[in-house]
Amino acid sequence: MDAMKPMESQGRAPRVVSFFDPETFTGTHVVIDEGTKHCAIVDCVLDYDPKSGMTSTASADALIAWVKEEALTVDWILETHVHADHLSAAPYLKAALGGQTAIGSAVTVVQNVFKGLFHAGDGFAVDGSQFDVLFDDGATFAIGDLTCSVMHTPGHTPACVSYYVGDALFVGDTLFAPDYGTARCDFPGGDAKVLFQSVRKLLALPAETRVFLCHDYMPGGREVTLETSIGAERANNIHVHEGIEEGEFVAMRSARDATLAMPVLILPSVQVNMRAGELPPAEANGMRYLKIPLNAF
Ligand SMILES: [Fe+2]
Repeated sequence: MDAMKPMESQGRAPRVVSFFDPETFTGTHVVIDEGTKHCAIVDCVLDYDPKSGMTSTASADALIAWVKEEALTVDWILETHVHADHLSAAPYLKAALGGQTAIGSAVTVVQNVFKGLFHAGDGFAVDGSQFDVLFDDGATFAIGDLTCSVMHTPGHTPACVSYYVGDALFVGDTLFAPDYGTARCDFPGGDAKVLFQSVRKLLALPAETRVFLCHDYMPGGREVTLETSIGAERANNIHVHEGIEEGEFVAMRSARDATLAMPVLILPSVQVNMRAGELPPAEANGMRYLKIPLNAF
């Protein structure tokens, strides 16, 4: 795997540096309060090879090395949602860098669904206790001297949140780049109508707000972009630009979702990410396993 290359955003506070994982098309963002050198890491990646079942910390190690080089103090390791296309490296980052892990409080809804699907057993708590902190809608927390507020933005999944700090907004999969649109809403608990309402809430923020994306798929072979703005999304987002009505969006989204294959890493990702990035517990032989539910998706 290529080492992730840092991309520096040219905005006001906070300083944001982004890393792109070309294997899973994931953007990991480091949100920095320059005054105190405290930071938060949003949506980190544990490398995983589905062919061999091997995990690797190459991407996480590159991120850790960069954070250490910059002499940053990690306050938070944040997730925007229980990702279905990459594994989180949150526990590995926490062990190396410190910080508290956190996600939206509706993660309990997601845990309940997937506990059933994966028959995870009584050892798997569905109260979100695998994370250090669960954020309700409107919760605020500090990154150094900056205040970050949490917006629940469900639709892609029931537990999706966006993080809003200074002029920067971290939207997870609630919005993609204007030329790619929005995320699918057909995973368990997803809802296109709910996504549309969440998007509307985000598009009401100031036009100059910097928007940081969790994924970029580089349509038409263009360069990777992990940053856009509320103004650009309002004007140009192919699925939700100004003038698109809810009914029109829901019809488009549902029709498109019906054509999409499952993400390659959905089964491994969900089983790990519903545990806040911990691998499933070892069986009696000391080996850890992922399950594949047959004929369930
Ligand atoms: Fe996602």
